[in-house]
Amino acid sequence: MGDPKWRKIMILKPKIQKALNKQINVEFSAFYSYLSMAAYFESHHMPGFASWYKVQSNEEFKHAMKLYEYIISRGEKVVLTAIETPQTEGKSFLSVFEAAYAQELKVSALINDLMDLAKSEGDHATAIMLQWFITEQVEEENTANSNVEKFKFIKDTTEGIDAFDRELGGRIQTT
Ligand code: FEO
Repeated sequence: MGDPKWRKIMILKPKIQKALNKQINVEFSAFYSYLSMAAYFESHHMPGFASWYKVQSNEEFKHAMKLYEYIISRGEKVVLTAIETPQTEGKSFLSVFEAAYAQELKVSALINDLMDLAKSEGDHATAIMLQWFITEQVEEENTANSNVEKFKFIKDTTEGIDAFDRELGGRIQTT
């Protein structure tokens, strides 16, 4: 006996399932990349910057798990794949902030592609789930860009960097 008819209605289309699994990898890659940025700042004795990136890496972990739980809730299979080695070593502070912003722009583009796919496939449930990510990306792009602009504004002065480090160290982990 095969799957009952109702199950055939609720499962994700293979195209969507594959794309969501791919996005899980993107979010875990962002988690790993931000953790690497945190480690970079730890090694340069910037505890506030390190703390900010640790909080951000946790956010990315939660994004990956949101997709994970969604795929499971649709009765489908999560497929985890290898995460690339992050490239952070040997960069300047500013270039790390810029890389974080570039990463967010890339993630936003991928989320938008996913939304286009969900809509073209008529998958309303996935589109509604992705709406959360669209909104989240607006905030993530904004904070990442703001970090770049603030860092440029302080122009590499020790006092400015220390003050900015204290400011970013005040970021609280939200649930
Ligand atoms: Fe999950 Fe910052 O993108």
